[in-house]
Amino acid sequence: MGHAEFTLRDKVEARRISLEELWMPFTPNREFKADPRMIVRAEGMYYWNDRGEKVIDASSGLFCCAAGHGRKEIAEAVGRQLTELDYAAPFMRGHPKQFELASRIAELTPGDLNRIFFGNSGSEAVESAMKIALAYHQARGQGGRTIFVSRERAYHGVNFGGVALSGLVNNRRKFGPGLPAAAHMRHTHIKENFFVPGQGEHGAELADDLQRMVNLFGAENIAACFVEPIGGSAGALVPPKGYLNRLREICDQHGILLVFDEVITGYGRTGQAFAAQSFGVTPDMITMAKAITNGAQPMGVVAVSERIHDTVMAAAPEGAVEFFHGYTYSGHPAACAAGLATLDIYKRDGLFERGRALSPYFLEGLFSLKDLPVVTDIRGYGMLGAIDVASDGVPGRRGNLFQKKLFDNGLNLKTTGDVAIVAPPLIAEKSHVDTIVDILRRTLAAL
Ligand SMILES: Cc1ncc(COP(=O)(O)O)c(C=O)c1O
Repeated sequence: MGHAEFTLRDKVEARRISLEELWMPFTPNREFKADPRMIVRAEGMYYWNDRGEKVIDASSGLFCCAAGHGRKEIAEAVGRQLTELDYAAPFMRGHPKQFELASRIAELTPGDLNRIFFGNSGSEAVESAMKIALAYHQARGQGGRTIFVSRERAYHGVNFGGVALSGLVNNRRKFGPGLPAAAHMRHTHIKENFFVPGQGEHGAELADDLQRMVNLFGAENIAACFVEPIGGSAGALVPPKGYLNRLREICDQHGILLVFDEVITGYGRTGQAFAAQSFGVTPDMITMAKAITNGAQPMGVVAVSERIHDTVMAAAPEGAVEFFHGYTYSGHPAACAAGLATLDIYKRDGLFERGRALSPYFLEGLFSLKDLPVVTDIRGYGMLGAIDVASDGVPGRRGNLFQKKLFDNGLNLKTTGDVAIVAPPLIAEKSHVDTIVDILRRTLAAL
């Protein structure tokens, strides 16, 4: 392989940078380095590439930047925090902002999910939640509960726990044994609900797969059921009506914890703070990340029910560490400052309500693309939607081509396989939706 290089033209004087050394995550490295697409600046609804061309951001970065890009309030809060207190160990020491942010998150969570554990990513939030589930069952004398139930086509991050839960074969197949035991329910992407906006009428009974797991393994061996309320990375798999309620019922019946992974759906994407509230089902834990800091700092969070927290606390001797888990950067001061500034923006600008109000227009725009022959399904809820394109015979190849052509036509979004996932920032105006739909149509028509 030759040495890959790239001339950056974003500054007055072009400069050469080497592309060789960086091993890019979840990227066809060789293809990218042969034909790179660079982003050098962002503001509001837009990115700019290195040639100074504007690219509308239809996926909020990677579902992170709900308040739009380049929010000065967040940058200033992070800057101030780093000059005041750059870092403090999260073990045995506290700093005020992590407590303040925990309180602010607890104001937004449903039910009694008022105990907040910090990590640095969605993957870490998932690992933490899995360990909390195990620790909780140990603490109440049910340490035999070690099996996790999740779902086909699920994405729960890339650490070993999350990969065990994941239902995406490429994320599992190369990583061998050593994964926690997990059993997978069927996914809910069924033909009867194709091209149906919002929640489909069919498929609530798929939740009975959890009951089948209970019949197969014994409830006394099952720790928790993890689901994304809307399957995000697999492409906005909206739960059928009644599905999440049924999962809740089965969990309650058998002492199984229900965990909603809201790394994508959290913070207004579904019109409420969390999808749990939009769908009226309260889980025992919620994992979150991404939009909690508007993407400006890495952060992952688990919101835990007081009952679970108190049980773990009570089982440890007075003065002892109750939960042997945490990260050097749990509740990092700069991330907490970013989180607080972000929550201020969400509240002040009413962004959750704004997303809720724009959702019908957004979904109508997306669903207007269903006449295009290459489109095989469209789904959506709130400000999260997805378009399936027909495979060209090699899974993912057309999807990859689609996202590249979209970028070249001035639109950024995430594809998984042959699915394009659309999730604009919640600051979007109707005119931005029009632009997004227009570029999607043009690009799909020429695909
Ligand atoms: C539902 C869900 N869980 C976990 C993760 C992993 O988050 P991270 O990439 O921050 O580790 C993601 C990432 O997209 C996600 O969508």
